[in-house]
Amino acid sequence: MAETRYDSRAAADYQAAREVPRDGLDAWRTAVSAAAGLAPGMTVLDVGAGTGAFASAFHAWFGVRVLAVEPAAAMRALIPASEEIRALDGKAESLPVPDGCADAAWLGSVIHHLDDLEASARELRRALKPGAPVLIRNSFPGRCDRDLRVRFFPETAGLVDTYPTVDRVCAAFATAGFAQVSLRPLPQRSAPTLTAYADGLRRAADSKLRALPDAAYARGLARLRAAAEADPTEPATSWMDLLVLT
Ligand SMILES: C[S@@+](CC[C@H](N)C(=O)[O-])C[C@H]1O[C@@H](n2cnc3c(N)ncnc32)[C@H](O)[C@@H]1O
Repeated sequence: MAETRYDSRAAADYQAAREVPRDGLDAWRTAVSAAAGLAPGMTVLDVGAGTGAFASAFHAWFGVRVLAVEPAAAMRALIPASEEIRALDGKAESLPVPDGCADAAWLGSVIHHLDDLEASARELRRALKPGAPVLIRNSFPGRCDRDLRVRFFPETAGLVDTYPTVDRVCAAFATAGFAQVSLRPLPQRSAPTLTAYADGLRRAADSKLRALPDAAYARGLARLRAAAEADPTEPATSWMDLLVLT
């Protein structure tokens, strides 16, 4: 996928429009807890941490320390850094952390941004303790029908088709000794209603929506507004996969 450039405006847009409200992430909290058994005293490596929404959620949910690695300075500047959440300049392919320092790794909506999956997997192998899981939250080709953006803007599935498939990711991680443990779609509540979701959309903050021709974007927005009018109480629930490897 073409590189996304995040300046301070794009980073602020991302924070405003793309961070999922924490109370919409209950299913993710439960699934991460089951997959990684996180507890106070442990360290999570958040790779491609963006503006730090998951770094701060992980700290709040599990009391863990988070090493939040993010290459874009403007995104990194918005990470709520502290003693417990360290914001580090770096990339998946060259992690700025010591060997065996982390009890789990989290890659949220980042797999399709990586330049080199095999190098990233090697680095994760190095940075993780033996047996520690890699948790990948992503859209994958052929598995994104219940993503709200694909539901209302069906042309976005064409962009997801260019992302690495589950098989491609598993094959790349296998070269570093990782094997697939589980793959399951999980819901998130992006907004309390479809109207609130439509009001909060910022096309510039979303590579999938940005890639659409203007006419396709306008058609999708009209579909979304019509669905919101047809059922004003429907929550804006979107689904994405959690792929776990150890
Ligand atoms: C869609 S954002 C996701 C941010 C965050 N994980 C979340 O879920 O909100 C993708 C992030 O990956 C970062 N990124 C791009 N290339 C990367 C790489 N090679 N290694 C690590 N992160 C990368 C981008 O700068 C961006 O902040």
